[in-house]
Amino acid sequence: MKIFYYSATGNSLKVAKSIGDEVYSIPSLLKDENESYTDDVIGFVFPCYYGSIPTIIEDFIRDNQFEASYTFAIVTYGNFILGTEIHFEKFAKKHGLRIDYLNKLKMIDSALTFCETQKQIETAGKKQIEEHLKVIVDDIHRQVKSPTSGSYLMSKISNVVAHSYRKGIGNCDKVLTVEEHCTLCGICAQVCPVDNITVTEAVQFHHKCIGCLACTHLCPCNAIRVKGEKSKVRFRNQDVSLEELIQANV
Ligand SMILES: Cc1cc2nc3c(=O)[nH]c(=O)nc-3n(C[C@H](O)[C@H](O)[C@H](O)COP(=O)(O)O)c2cc1C
Repeated sequence: MKIFYYSATGNSLKVAKSIGDEVYSIPSLLKDENESYTDDVIGFVFPCYYGSIPTIIEDFIRDNQFEASYTFAIVTYGNFILGTEIHFEKFAKKHGLRIDYLNKLKMIDSALTFCETQKQIETAGKKQIEEHLKVIVDDIHRQVKSPTSGSYLMSKISNVVAHSYRKGIGNCDKVLTVEEHCTLCGICAQVCPVDNITVTEAVQFHHKCIGCLACTHLCPCNAIRVKGEKSKVRFRNQDVSLEELIQANV
């Protein structure tokens, strides 16, 4: 089984690791030549961004070939997934990839301008994350097949939301500011999936940002602010280490 994942704050990596051992980071693979991947089982795990799929997931599906007898995709999200998973299924199909099992998992929301992170962490129990994850893992190991669960209308709404988000891609870093207590440790640059950050005498953003917020969530000094953030509290999935998220971009 090969599992391809993208994860800024660790939720999707936690899910990928719970399903199987052979996990591959999509930002890391995107640095290499296009490939053809073959296995009995191939899966994809990634977060919902603004009711749609992150652009690097689209790049990965578009630029590579996949051959498997059973395929799955799991979308992690915080509160409102809209039609993200349906959008993914359609996108995959358009690029010759059939998805046999499609599911979603509600986890802690990493969108700092929509959610108060501390509250998210304190109320995570209500989402029954471990219980739902267990069902998903079991389904995949039994190679359960599932048709799309979402509605056509939701998919349409998702596309509209995603379209307005995509217009801002690249310039997402314009909402980021670095506070004076930054120690120039460079972790922000190491966790950025698109090499948008360099750190020398200052932190510099290079306007190819996809808005994942890994830099601000994972900053050891909590020195990166986001315009409109609901609070200063930051998040990393407790079952994923900072080192794993750094390695995911090497
Ligand atoms: C830029 C951005 C946009 C997001 N948009 C949504 C959204 O539309 N709906 C939602 O439920 N969660 C949204 N989230 C929350 C993430 O999908 C969720 O926290 C996910 O589990 C994070 O996965 P990761 O830890 O693997 O990066 C968003 C997060 C970010 C950073």
